[in-house]
Amino acid sequence: MNAWNASANRDGAHFPDPERFDIQRTPNRHLTFGYGIHFCIGAPLARLEGRIVLSLLLKQLKNLRRIPNVSVDVGPGPLHHINNLPVMFEA
Ligand code: HEM
Repeated sequence: MNAWNASANRDGAHFPDPERFDIQRTPNRHLTFGYGIHFCIGAPLARLEGRIVLSLLLKQLKNLRRIPNVSVDVGPGPLHHINNLPVMFEA
């Protein structure tokens, strides 16, 4: 059986206010790394890398934020990956 993770992660019956980006959502039983016996073996590494990258970016780029009123370039396909996200920060 195949699950469409991008859709399952926005299941309103499971996640309150599912379209809202909430980095501190608790509980957050999403399916991004799969489920069960084939759960992603690299998940701890991917999480560590994400934590390192985001904390460095937030530490080094003061007041990092999206440029208002500029649309995000979202790629085709079910994963909606972001091609281009214009941001600004203070030097
Ligand atoms: C954000 C990064 C990543 C995401 C979103 C992701 C996502 C996934 C998903 C959804 C699966 C399950 C596929 C299935 O059920 O058939 C999976 C499996 C797997 N992932 Fe990842 N992955 C990521 C990073 C990594 C990394 C960094 C590694 C290795 C260093 C890795 C190695 C694997 C392996 C070996 C499997 C197969 C596990 C198995 O079948 O038992 N992944 N990944």
